Amino acid sequence: MVISRFISQLVSAAWAMLPAYVPNNAAVLSGGGDPIDGGRMWGDRRLLGDGKTWRGTAVGSVVGVLLAVVLNLVRDRVEARLGVSLPEFSLGGAVGLAVGAMLGDIAASFLKRRSGRERGASFPLLDQLDFVVGALGLAKLLSPVWFSRTFTPLRLVVVVVITPVLHLVTNGIAYLLGLKDEPY
Ligand code: CTP
Ligand code: MG
Repeated sequence: MVISRFISQLVSAAWAMLPAYVPNNAAVLSGGGDPIDGGRMWGDRRLLGDGKTWRGTAVGSVVGVLLAVVLNLVRDRVEARLGVSLPEFSLGGAVGLAVGAMLGDIAASFLKRRSGRERGASFPLLDQLDFVVGALGLAKLLSPVWFSRTFTPLRLVVVVVITPVLHLVTNGIAYLLGLKDEPY
C-alpha cells in the first residue's frame, strides 16, 4: 500500500517533469549554429560558450511544449493503463517547464564560465539540477495555481532526488551513442 502510493507519486512526478527533461536532449540532438553569446567575452572568458546555441535552445523549447501537448492528449489512456492519476499541463506550465529548463541550463553555463570551467567541463549537481530550478521557477511564475496543484511538496522532493539519477542515465546513454562529448 505504502509502496504503491510511493510509486504513483514517482510516476506522476516524472510525468510532470517530462516537458522539462526532454528539451536538453533535444538541444543536444539539434545543437550547432550560432552561439547565443555571439562569441562575446566577459573578461578573458566567453559569456556562455559555443555549447549554448539559438537553434538548440529554440528546438528544445518547442519540443518540450509539444511534448506537454501530446502528454495531455494521451493522459486518459495512460492513467487507465497504469491505474495512477497523472497531472494535466496548463499552457503556462508547459511553456514554463520547457523554456525554463533551457534558461536554467544557460544560466549554469554562465556560472561555469565565470568559475573558470571550459565548455564541457563538469560541475556536479549544478549540471544535474540547473534545468530543474529553471523549469520549476518559470512554471511557478507563469502558472502559479497549476504549479502548486501539480508540484506538491512531496513531489518536489521526489523530483529533486530522482532528477540527477535520470539525468546521468540519459546523458550516459547519449554519450555511449556518440551524441554527447561527455557523460554528464
Ligand atoms: N546545446 C545547444 N543549445 C543549448 C543547450 C545545448 O545547442 N541551449 C547543444 C550544444 O551542441 C552542446 C550540447 O547540446 O554542446 C550539449 O549541451 P551541454 O552539455 O549543456 O553543453 P556543453 O557543450 O557541455 O557546454 P557547457 O559547458 O556550457 O554546459
Ligand atoms: Mg555539458
